[in-house]
Amino acid sequence: MSSDPLLQPYQLKHLTLKNRLMITSHEPAYPEDGMPKERYRAYHVERARAGVALTMTAGSASVARDSPPVFNNVLAWKDEVVGWMKELTDACHAHDCAVMIQLTHLGRRTRWDKADWLPVVSPSHEREASHKAFPKKAEDWDIARIIEDYADAAERMKAAGLDGIELQAYGHLLDQFWSPLTNELDGPYGGSLENRLRFTFDTLKAIRARVGDEFIVGVRYTGDEDLPGGITREEGLEISRRLKDSGKVDFLNVVKGHIDTDAGLTDVIPVQGMRSAPHLDFAGEIRAATQFPTFHAAKIQDVATARHAIAEGKLDMVGMTRAHMADPHIVAKIMRGEEERIRPCVGANYCLDRIYQGGMALCLHNPSTGRELEMPHEITKADASRRVVIVGAGPAGLEAARVAAERGHEVIVHEAANDPGGQVRLTAQSKRRHEMIQLIQWRFAECERLGVSFRFNSYADADTIRAEQPDVVVIATGGLPHTEVLAAGDDLVVSSWDILSGDARPGSNVLIYDDAGDYAALQAAETLAASGAKVEAMTRDRNFSSEVMAMSLTPSLRELQARDVTFTVLWKLTGVAKEGNGLVATIGSDYGDFTRERHVDQVVVNHGTRPLDDIYFDLRDGSSNQGEVDYEALIAGEPQRVARNQDGTYQLFRIGDAVAARNTHAAIYDALRLVRTV
Ligand SMILES: Cc1cc2nc3c(=O)[nH]c(=O)nc-3n(C[C@H](O)[C@H](O)[C@H](O)COP(=O)(O)O)c2cc1C
Ligand code: SF4
Repeated sequence: MSSDPLLQPYQLKHLTLKNRLMITSHEPAYPEDGMPKERYRAYHVERARAGVALTMTAGSASVARDSPPVFNNVLAWKDEVVGWMKELTDACHAHDCAVMIQLTHLGRRTRWDKADWLPVVSPSHEREASHKAFPKKAEDWDIARIIEDYADAAERMKAAGLDGIELQAYGHLLDQFWSPLTNELDGPYGGSLENRLRFTFDTLKAIRARVGDEFIVGVRYTGDEDLPGGITREEGLEISRRLKDSGKVDFLNVVKGHIDTDAGLTDVIPVQGMRSAPHLDFAGEIRAATQFPTFHAAKIQDVATARHAIAEGKLDMVGMTRAHMADPHIVAKIMRGEEERIRPCVGANYCLDRIYQGGMALCLHNPSTGRELEMPHEITKADASRRVVIVGAGPAGLEAARVAAERGHEVIVHEAANDPGGQVRLTAQSKRRHEMIQLIQWRFAECERLGVSFRFNSYADADTIRAEQPDVVVIATGGLPHTEVLAAGDDLVVSSWDILSGDARPGSNVLIYDDAGDYAALQAAETLAASGAKVEAMTRDRNFSSEVMAMSLTPSLRELQARDVTFTVLWKLTGVAKEGNGLVATIGSDYGDFTRERHVDQVVVNHGTRPLDDIYFDLRDGSSNQGEVDYEALIAGEPQRVARNQDGTYQLFRIGDAVAARNTHAAIYDALRLVRTV
């Protein structure tokens, strides 16, 4: 047997968990009609098959009708959930992976204008900053009703054959009772700690009465709200002891912080550029104090840190949740001695942010995640090897090369720069986004392993590519910033890329006009503000950085606000002119015919990119498909068979920003989806 601490089994009551890695509950928003159907099942089974010991399904599965999901959660209050959960559980059990589910009542952490339009309920009328619903204050009959709802849901999960359940406390109804900040009740459920915990213990008692003593029941909770007036570290420790001493709980799943604001949530679930494993020691302290089974997850992205958590006795089970979204096969790779091949989670948090803004979790780095059914993680070999020539070694080009090489093709990549990376290399120059470079490093290492030939410093033209005698050409040349958007003065502005690359020296009084709403403007603003410049960031939209989602924005906004960067919405830059040694910027509005001026010494325009597509158009005539893509075949996962030119000697495709400015996920997905059938 392996001596790896991570691969040692763990005994939780009667349940033997085969190793120390788990996926903590996270709702990827894949349910259909509130049920975990085929897609949901495929997502968990992929990870079970690869060896994870325990998967905590759902995430905030709702136990009651007045806890409507905010991001498409499993509806555990419906009886039909039993059949779906049974299918999922049986399928994971077939791979010796234990299955539990997180149950919750969201309390005020939802909205009344969802589902059945019932009032939101909480132990006070205090609204949560994030979801903004003003709750009704819970009455005795609400409390009695919700306790029964929990017990019903727990019974359904036992009937479905699950190994256990976890009650989600932090930020949800249970800890709205715990926290003095959100509990304004008198009498049995408010006031002293004992009273504030009463709702939880009544709920646990009702659950035990239904599921018995053997069924595994845990609680996921914050041991320190990190908020003035909230649950303190000492109180958190006391709560931990009481949970253990109740005899009704089998494990503690520890969290630190509060989730009522975007910034708070981001500290609980840290994103790119934030410290790795920031709450691990805290969880270890709770384990040491309670000597009770302790689980924890928070940016433990790499196997070395996970191993350390177990070896040092900080945890019993380590959650690597987003890490498993990026690479479902972590355990299999550890067991095969291929740790260095694990696709690293880069903390981009596209997955989590998207459940709110995009409707479902997708991984920036791994487009197969959540698409297990139609876009499997494993790439199959092609029937015959072809010569595939790729132009550009950014994320799209590298993914195309990786997938083509996995298919068994001969692959040649031309890249104009010295190194792979394209736009991502620029992005990764900021310390806060440095993790992005791993998108490139991982793909490049895979390409090297698979024998892809790279021609760096090769600014390929059409003749260069034709001379390679390709069967397939993929253009992944990306784009260049587009700043020619003004009625006058285009020549007086610089792009956000100019600031990031250092091609333009930062001014001292700068207007950034962001008409793309993406990271580039934020990063330019950070660079400028850090250089000491006075910065005004302006957009014509109602919100700043519309394309960067809530949690991902947090570290930037912290930095920018601390440096007194001002944000101006609803104004658009229309022109720039010289004024002595400085510039005068004219701004207007979509809402009326008024203008204003700004007197600055630098204007930065962020307006996305335009495709670098000359080579594509030069190669079109010689191709068999003349660049045409059969979208139906692409979506159906079938090979491209467009034939528009019988003299054409190669198929020609372009992907990523070489087609139109989009994001990194789109670029990588373009590549995977196309090339997996080449
Ligand atoms: C898409 C997504 C949804 C999540 N939903 C929940 C949830 O419903 N309940 C919960 O307790 N945690 C939820 N989480 C948090 C995870 O359980 C975990 O604590 C977090 O991702 C930090 O661990 P990691 O760094 O290993 O990913 C979610 C995470 C993700 C990525
Ligand atoms: S989107 Fe980013 S944070 Fe989420 S799993 Fe993928 S790499 Fe990790």
